[in-house]
Amino acid sequence: MTTIDRTRLADLIARETAAHAAANPTSRALFDVADHLFGRVPMTWMSKWAGGFPLYLDGAAGNRVTDVDGHTYVDFALGDTGAMAGHSPAPTVAAVTRRLGALGGVTAMLPSEDAEWVAAELARRFGLPLWSFSLTATDANRWAIRLARMVTGRPKVLAFSYCYHGSVDETFVVLDADGSTRLRPGNVGAPGPIDMTTRAAEFNDLASVERALAHGDVAVVVTEPALTNIGIVLPEPGFLAGVRELATRHGALLLIDETHTFSAGPGGCTKAWGLQPDLFVIGKSIGGGVPCGAYGITDAVAERVASHPDADLVDVGGVGGTLAGNALSTAAMRATLGEVLTDDVFPRMIELSTRFTEGARSTINATGVPWSVSQLGARSEYRFASPAPSSGTASAAAGDDLLDEYLHLYCLNRGILMTPFHNMALMCPTTSAADVDRHTEVFRAAVDELLG
Ligand SMILES: Cc1ncc(COP(=O)(O)O)c(C=O)c1O
Repeated sequence: MTTIDRTRLADLIARETAAHAAANPTSRALFDVADHLFGRVPMTWMSKWAGGFPLYLDGAAGNRVTDVDGHTYVDFALGDTGAMAGHSPAPTVAAVTRRLGALGGVTAMLPSEDAEWVAAELARRFGLPLWSFSLTATDANRWAIRLARMVTGRPKVLAFSYCYHGSVDETFVVLDADGSTRLRPGNVGAPGPIDMTTRAAEFNDLASVERALAHGDVAVVVTEPALTNIGIVLPEPGFLAGVRELATRHGALLLIDETHTFSAGPGGCTKAWGLQPDLFVIGKSIGGGVPCGAYGITDAVAERVASHPDADLVDVGGVGGTLAGNALSTAAMRATLGEVLTDDVFPRMIELSTRFTEGARSTINATGVPWSVSQLGARSEYRFASPAPSSGTASAAAGDDLLDEYLHLYCLNRGILMTPFHNMALMCPTTSAADVDRHTEVFRAAVDELLG
């Protein structure tokens, strides 16, 4: 088996870090004077970028990002899905400009007619009839979980080891080897013991799901159709159908979070694979970069909510945000769903992702590195394990921070942005075959240099 020489890896990282610093003096200087930002960045995760400091944004259009030192990159990070429509798509820009300027009224506490259009479109795509809006997928998850707890009268959430659904306290779990639910390592300031709110299970392990549900205290199973935040972990045949069946049998609801897996097609995995969630969450991409999110519910859930007339859905009951559903974000969602991320653009995005996947796989096969690459529609990702991990715990074990750093920096220094978290690449409507082939070429060179 081909092995990686760790000394060589460290030397290459040092070389690439020096090249990055030399090529980006303006970004470096801006970072150095950011004394009033916590961690020197506007959002603490921005320090995740490889190279010791982030590139500073000058502008972006489609799948191109230009930094303040004048470099233009092919962007496969696409705002970790927030820019899956491409940066500043023209119809979205026109709609938000009109709302901001000609019409006015970003946040007036009044509905605009765009909201019903967007809800009807989400219903057409994902099948759930009733929708409510948020500004982040995190909030949509939080509010949907509250509704699930209320209508089932049960306290707990079932979540999978190493899942990610935003900063939702109940979902930061791992399943211990002894079968107990533990807080995910590194979680900041958890409000209390995680096993008070959550039962953990392992993705692709129906027996672990059944064990968790058998306690009879789970309100809702929360999952992505494929894990995407610990590398891509695809569901094995029958797993999602099994989860649906077990949830129903044990009186729990099923929440499908398609914030990332929307890459599978215009109706996400829910449409592509015929999933039947009771609650559904999406965010990030559908506003073309403008903050937005949404949750959908079935008629049956809505009826159960209605049987709680005491529930405060309109004020301080815990299922709303002042700026949620505002006229700017609904205008952005209407334009993005109606004119940018349309049914028609997905086949080409998925074709390019297949090209990307095959390109990466050709390097893996030719060089013999023990890695794998997984595709979920317009999204592709390589992972340092072969075969591809089938659970969150296995995928977490395949993480390698130094390899991530090397590959990210190598790409960055050659004009390619990969998502700073693991090795995700996403295609948008303006990604081209030449962009994909450039990655294939750079990835091959990176691995060849690594192997020496
Ligand atoms: C599946 C999933 N759900 C929810 C979220 C949270 O989205 P946001 O950060 O916009 O709240 C994320 C973020 O990565 C996600 O991947």
